[in-house]
Amino acid sequence: MINILNEKYIMNNNLEIPKVGLGTYKLTNELEGVELIKAAITAGYRLIDTAKVYENHKIIARAIKECDVKRKDLFITSKIWNKDHKYEDAKLAIDTILNELELDYIDLILVHWPTKYRNECYKALEEAVEEGKVKSIGVSNYQKHHIEELISICKIKPVINQIELHPALRNQEVVNTCKKHNILVESWGTMIRGKCFEIEQIKKLALKYNKSEPQICLRWAYQNGYVIIPKTSKPSRVVENTMIYDFQLNDEDIDLINSINEFRDGPDPDNFNF
Ligand SMILES: NC(=O)c1ccc[n+]([C@@H]2O[C@H](COP(=O)([O-])OP(=O)(O)OC[C@H]3O[C@@H](n4cnc5c(N)ncnc54)[C@H](OP(=O)(O)O)[C@@H]3O)[C@@H](O)[C@H]2O)c1
Repeated sequence: MINILNEKYIMNNNLEIPKVGLGTYKLTNELEGVELIKAAITAGYRLIDTAKVYENHKIIARAIKECDVKRKDLFITSKIWNKDHKYEDAKLAIDTILNELELDYIDLILVHWPTKYRNECYKALEEAVEEGKVKSIGVSNYQKHHIEELISICKIKPVINQIELHPALRNQEVVNTCKKHNILVESWGTMIRGKCFEIEQIKKLALKYNKSEPQICLRWAYQNGYVIIPKTSKPSRVVENTMIYDFQLNDEDIDLINSINEFRDGPDPDNFNF
């Protein structure tokens, strides 16, 4: 049987990343969080996306300990929060992430937003790769100009750019820039954080394929080659959000999606937390 949870992309450093993972923003209730993450791992999820600012590293650490999947088979992503982007603060933040997650290494750490100290933070991440604390490094919410700047100064190319990306924010300029530099694109807010139910074009496609609106959004992103990390606090949705392999959006469907008026649900990366 096809299981998209087994599928992986190869990153530009030749390491693998699952195509589908679990988002954990707002998963802060310990009991609920541990059970949800364990249910996701049992269902076959291997990638868990977190961040220092989500305040759930300890919940994830407990879930990892209580599940019976080997560490090497999991892929843990975290991110360095904006206030910690100065070089020394970023170095400390990397150690804090390792301590809170109770891990010897992190699979992927991202610069959370392109603050004015973003390059200091990235330098600390490059050193963490050399020190064996992190396997891969990347960025999040980077616009075209942030990527071009980083590419011109980095020693280690970012493997991924995690951005707000969904049928109502197709973010083509950033996607094209990432493709040009062989950087994978990871979509956050793929289901438009629940707003997918309000968009006529998505409702129409959900009816056409007898799928839910979130599944239409997730299929769109998956079909475009983006890593997806749908978040849910409900175990039943953990499985629903992976049932997107038995239909395909055709050119006409894509045209319909392209007719959705674009809007950004989250902050504008050029004007956030300088
Ligand atoms: N890098 C960044 O700056 C950044 C920013 C935001 C998010 N992220 C990451 O990306 C992940 C995903 O983004 P997101 O959480 O903002 O948005 P999202 O995944 O698009 O949407 C999550 C929302 O959709 C609901 N939902 C999930 N599955 C559903 C289903 N099958 N049917 C109906 N509703 C469903 C969830 O509610 P329930 O929980 O009630 O199911 C939740 O309210 C985050 O968790 C986080 O890991 C990164």
